[in-house]
Amino acid sequence: MLSHLPEVTQLSPRQAQRLVVLLGFVGASVARHYQEHVTGGIEHPEHAFDRLTVGAAEIPFRAYFAALAKHTGTGHYDRDSYASLVRWNVGTIRVRLHGEVVAELPGLFDDGRIRSYTGTVGEERFFLLVKQGEAVELAVNELLCPLTRERASLIGEDARHRVREATVLLATLRKLMVDFAALPPEETMPPEMFMDVFRQFAAHWTPDDIPPSGALDPEALKRDFLLGLAIDGYDQQARRLFPALLDHERAELDELMSGPTLPQRLLAEIGTDEHELRLSDDGDLRRLVAHHPALIDWYRLLAMHARASGAHLMLSKKFLFKPQRRRDEEGIGDRLLVSNRAGTTGMTETFLERVTRARQNHALALLRPVLIAESPDSGPATAVRSGRDAGTPVLVELAG
Ligand code: HEM
Repeated sequence: MLSHLPEVTQLSPRQAQRLVVLLGFVGASVARHYQEHVTGGIEHPEHAFDRLTVGAAEIPFRAYFAALAKHTGTGHYDRDSYASLVRWNVGTIRVRLHGEVVAELPGLFDDGRIRSYTGTVGEERFFLLVKQGEAVELAVNELLCPLTRERASLIGEDARHRVREATVLLATLRKLMVDFAALPPEETMPPEMFMDVFRQFAAHWTPDDIPPSGALDPEALKRDFLLGLAIDGYDQQARRLFPALLDHERAELDELMSGPTLPQRLLAEIGTDEHELRLSDDGDLRRLVAHHPALIDWYRLLAMHARASGAHLMLSKKFLFKPQRRRDEEGIGDRLLVSNRAGTTGMTETFLERVTRARQNHALALLRPVLIAESPDSGPATAVRSGRDAGTPVLVELAG
């Protein structure tokens, strides 16, 4: 097949993008099977491609792939990526809120199919879940990003409306994940399939490259920088993932990282900051909330962000960390190629627990006692509670 491929310059950027998706699967398969079957393959993954050439000119596979990636004009990485496997591969996802389209994440193929490593439906469901999640996150970010503009009020009616809608969308994201976990394995992807088959394709192509991972979901990264995440070195950690992102994703993240977070702006607008909140007693906090009811909306947004993170942590435990612990206890051990004791970019269970805790300890977490201590019928508490399990007017659809 490779010998029949055209020269990169004969392709349009969009055709190049499609070929990046397809050859991404090919490259991942070659890398995996080589490393599983050849002694020393894991130490030198790049040798998997030694005898693989493309086209009449016999261009080495990785050089052809890199040229193709460049030709897309998107700044795509020179191996498969989150963008190629998830966003470009899965068809267009639309998110509707109250019937109106609030986000659209296009795919590159209009054949209604989801390409996968093995052609099994479990893999398709996984890719679909992640892209649905990303589309909902995009909708959230599109509501919140205009609030980063200079002089945008974060306590006015427009901001409060945006924040409330974003909370509804985050509740949907959480529900997508909780529902996926609740389905029987034959209707999602059995954990063994995830660990022993799917994840094993996230092998290295070169010793230090970045294999595809949910950690490269740019909308999730953007949300963390919009809402703030108090973890030392989180910026640097995100920057280490930059090579595997696209140009516009790097630029957007760069901009968000350089400004104050929305909760910091919010507190500044009402004349306070986190340090002062920490020094306030319950009476002060209650007065502050009564004076600025927008705080309740923001609190609920941050709390839902944390709950969505908790749902994701639960998924990672269910499909990876718990079954691997069982394997360790039973003496079965780990896979040699892609370890199931950590994510593909090296995130451990402890790290995922840490980020979830950091999201729970958000900038307005200090308001929690005064917001939930109120009686159910009085203002703030009612708002917090009723938002929690309200039905969702959100529809996440796969076009076509
Ligand atoms: C069955 C479903 C899922 C499982 C088993 C799962 C598992 C994991 C694992 C093991 C990691 C660590 C990755 C690494 O080290 O590179 C991770 C990270 C991540 N995943 Fe997932 N994931 C699932 C669904 C999703 C979905 C639907 C999304 C997005 C909508 C997502 C977004 C993320 C993000 C943003 C991270 C970085 C950690 C964080 O910010 O909390 N994942 N996931």
